[in-house]
Amino acid sequence: MFETLDSVKADAIARLVEAGKSRHTPMHTPVVGTSDGDMRVMVLREYDPDTRRLRFHTDARSPKCAVVSEGAPASVLLYNPEAKIQIRARGIGRIESQGTIADAAWEASTTFARRCYLVEDAPGAASDAGTSGLPDWAQGIQPSEEQVAPARENFAVLLVELERLDWLYLANSGHRRAVFEASDNGWNGQWVVP
Ligand SMILES: Cc1cc2nc3c(=O)[nH]c(=O)nc-3n(C[C@H](O)[C@H](O)[C@H](O)COP(=O)(O)O)c2cc1C
Repeated sequence: MFETLDSVKADAIARLVEAGKSRHTPMHTPVVGTSDGDMRVMVLREYDPDTRRLRFHTDARSPKCAVVSEGAPASVLLYNPEAKIQIRARGIGRIESQGTIADAAWEASTTFARRCYLVEDAPGAASDAGTSGLPDWAQGIQPSEEQVAPARENFAVLLVELERLDWLYLANSGHRRAVFEASDNGWNGQWVVP
């Protein structure tokens, strides 16, 4: 198990792909860091190994979008305690609120998921009382397509094009760690001391 860099690379990629597809892996909700030093949990929606891109969904008005904007370093931290595998991924983030990727992501979302983007003020805005931020009519309902249509303008995707993966496996028999740097020929791996 994990005797070669190729097997580690395959494991890392398979875990990222699975994390984008299955809510049953803890890697589905990684921590995403931005260059302002802030971090937050987000749902990973997809990893495309061909483009090396992770996709997340977010509110275009949230502070992270201003930080990442059209391109800024971003980091993604994933851990699966059962497998005892940590993946630290780094790359360049980009926010897209228009275009085919954002449109397709919106189309594929349920109306319940789209409802989140109906919040009236930007995430992080101060409020006099505890609030969901949703308009009163949208509280506790499964809205229709028409009702959530105006929320589209608040929806954006965060794309992180990965440049580096740091994979760590914890084992009593001896931990293993490898880093991979993206190149035109794919991922170049290197064992490192855990
Ligand atoms: C389990 C979980 C999943 C979350 N998923 C998302 C997500 O997919 N997109 C998102 O923008 N925020 C998500 N959040 C909320 C963020 O952690 C964060 O509070 C929010 O995005 C605030 O925006 P900021 O990071 O720009 O300040 C999630 C939080 C938790 C606890």
